[in-house]
Amino acid sequence: MSVLEIRDLHVTVGEGDDAKEILKGVDLTVRSGETHAIMGPNGSGKSTLAYSIAGHPKYTITGGTVTLDGEDVLAMTVDERARAGLFLAMQYPVEVPGVSVSNFLRTAATAVKGEAPKLRTWVKDVREEMTALEMDPAFAERNVNEGFSGGEKKRHEILQMRLLKPKVAILDETDSGLDVDALRVVSEGVNRSRAELTGDDAIGVLLITHYTRILRYIQPDFVHVFVNGRVVDEGGKELADKLEAEGYAAYVKDSKETAKA
Ligand SMILES: Nc1ncnc2c1ncn2[C@@H]1O[C@H](COP(=O)(O)OP(=O)(O)O)[C@@H](O)[C@H]1O
Ligand SMILES: [Mg+2]
Repeated sequence: MSVLEIRDLHVTVGEGDDAKEILKGVDLTVRSGETHAIMGPNGSGKSTLAYSIAGHPKYTITGGTVTLDGEDVLAMTVDERARAGLFLAMQYPVEVPGVSVSNFLRTAATAVKGEAPKLRTWVKDVREEMTALEMDPAFAERNVNEGFSGGEKKRHEILQMRLLKPKVAILDETDSGLDVDALRVVSEGVNRSRAELTGDDAIGVLLITHYTRILRYIQPDFVHVFVNGRVVDEGGKELADKLEAEGYAAYVKDSKETAKA
C-alpha cells in the first residue's frame, strides 16, 4: 500500500522580482488503488502541480511537503522519483532525438527496476501492450516523440505506464487532443492497470484534466476542484457531473473574493 501525500505545497515560477506564486497551499493524498481527478480551469496551476512533483527545474518549491510512503520526494533527483515509483505523463512531452521508443522503454525499465528486464518476456510484454493500445509495431522503432501525433504521444505515455508499473501515476491532460477512439484506447490502458494490479502492486492514479470527457471512461473515486493554485472543493464522481453542467465560474468568483478579502 503506497501513499503520495502533498501538504501545503507552495510553488513559484520565475526569478527574483518576476517570481510569481502559482501553487498556494495544495493538500492532496493519493493512495494505491484509488483514482483521483483534479479538475480546474486553464491557468489554475494544474500542470505546475504535476511538474513540481516531477522535479522540473523551472518550478521553485517555497513551502510544504511531498512524500511517497513517508520518503521526501522533493529531496529526490528526477531519477530517484521514478525509482521510488512515481510516474508522470506530461502535457507537453519532450522529444528525444536518436533514441527509439523500444530503447527508451527498456532503458527506463532498467533504471526504474535497477536491473535490465529479461529480454524474452520484455519483448513479449511490449508487443502485447502495443497491440492492446492499438499501436503499429513499427512505432517501436520511431524516435521518442519526434513527429508523434497527439494520439501517438498519449499512447506512448500509457505504454510506458503499463510497462513500468509505478505506484502512483500522474497523468496531465491525457485526454487533450485525442479523438474518441484514441481516448477509449488510452482510457482502457489506465483501466487495465487499475483492474489487474492489486494488493502491494495496486496503482494510484492522479488524473489532471480540464474537461469531464475522460471521466466517462476512467471513473474517479475522488474529484478535487482546483482553482487559483489550490484545491477548493472535493467530492465523489458526482462532482464531475456538476462541473460538467455548471462549469467553474462559481468557484472562480469565490476564489477572487477570498483573494481580495
Ligand atoms: N514555466 C513557466 N513560466 C512562467 N509562467 C508559468 C510557467 N509555468 C506556468 N506558468 C504560469 O502559471 C500559471 C498556471 O499554469 P499551468 O500550471 O500550466 O495551469 P493549468 O495546467 O491549470 O492550465 C499560468 O498563469 C502560467 O502562465
Ligand atoms: Mg495544464
